[in-house]
Amino acid sequence: MSIRAGFLGTGSCLPEKEFTNFDMEKIVDTTDEWIQTRTGIKSRRIADDQTATSDLAYGAALKAMEAANISAEDLDMIIVATITPDMHFPSTACIVQDKLGADNASAFDVSAACSGFVYASTIAKQFVESGQAKYVLVIGAETLSKILDFTDRNTCVLFGDGAGAAIIGQVPTGGIIATDLGAKGSGGKFLTVPAGGSRMPASQETIDNRLHYISMDGSEVFKFAVRIMASSSKTVVEKAGWSVDELDYLVPHQANIRIINSAGKKLKLPPEKVHVNLDKFGNTSAGSVPIALDEAVRSGKIKSGDKVVLVAFGGGLTWGALAVEF
Ligand code: ACO
Repeated sequence: MSIRAGFLGTGSCLPEKEFTNFDMEKIVDTTDEWIQTRTGIKSRRIADDQTATSDLAYGAALKAMEAANISAEDLDMIIVATITPDMHFPSTACIVQDKLGADNASAFDVSAACSGFVYASTIAKQFVESGQAKYVLVIGAETLSKILDFTDRNTCVLFGDGAGAAIIGQVPTGGIIATDLGAKGSGGKFLTVPAGGSRMPASQETIDNRLHYISMDGSEVFKFAVRIMASSSKTVVEKAGWSVDELDYLVPHQANIRIINSAGKKLKLPPEKVHVNLDKFGNTSAGSVPIALDEAVRSGKIKSGDKVVLVAFGGGLTWGALAVEF
């Protein structure tokens, strides 16, 4: 009999410090009203100076492992999706492996921006279903506040810090039925951190020109997102052999309420079937989908047997969706 992979447990970890739109008004030329009407965001969490991405990833991992009732030694693989690794290398996954004492696990990072958790879960599915791994820890974790230019109102109001995690392993029924991944590298220029890599190594000039921060063409990303969130969801539903009417819940990437509402409308899903938490946390990139998933599972919105789509878009440009029966 063939093995089917699914979610065995989820967890999340958010920094304690809330940074509201009113706090934002004090440091940059913006208003709570503008941010709420254009994005739906009211607040976000910001990590303190001592907290790096691996610290949030570790916190989320512990909760996911507890929910799945497995220990660190049980893990065969750790995948961390992030665009804010602790450092270029070692990978954040290796740092998390060490913190957990998960000595039997291989460990690597995935760079697919906000689609990272969906990409990493798709990789985990392949390892579990081919019998090469029993338990894979998948984490989406970010400290985006560390790469935000808090003088640029076009970007700094949108993002927040946080991590979500899941254990992926064999399930008796349901599980991750279908996946859809894609990329459009030609659109990569719309969302970048220009300097600090091999193309433009760090120098006094790159620092003076603020090139180590997120730079974004918001309207180009917006157009892409509106199109791809609906089309990737439809693709994965079709691949699963479901109809959209059968869907119990949609867990979308939390970038902008207008993008989420447009996807919901195109899919003809009532708002109560779409998970939204960006008002509290903003866009946490790779953390966004797993944090929302953990919230929906723990609050009982997602129940056993439910048909759920997780869908994301992000820098790269990338996109991905999972059709999951819980
Ligand atoms: N406060 C006040 N005014 C602002 C702010 C702000 N924070 N930001 C921009 N404005 C101004 C602009 O300067 C512009 O003024 P102008 O007309 O005088 O030039 C005006 O508001 C309108 O700007 P628009 O870009 O038209 O605003 P829009 O309604 O399109 O919203 C937004 C901008 C929110 C960025 C939207 O385009 C968006 O959400 N894009 C998608 C971004 C996204 O999802 N990025 C994350 C990708 S995920 C990842 O991988 C990291």
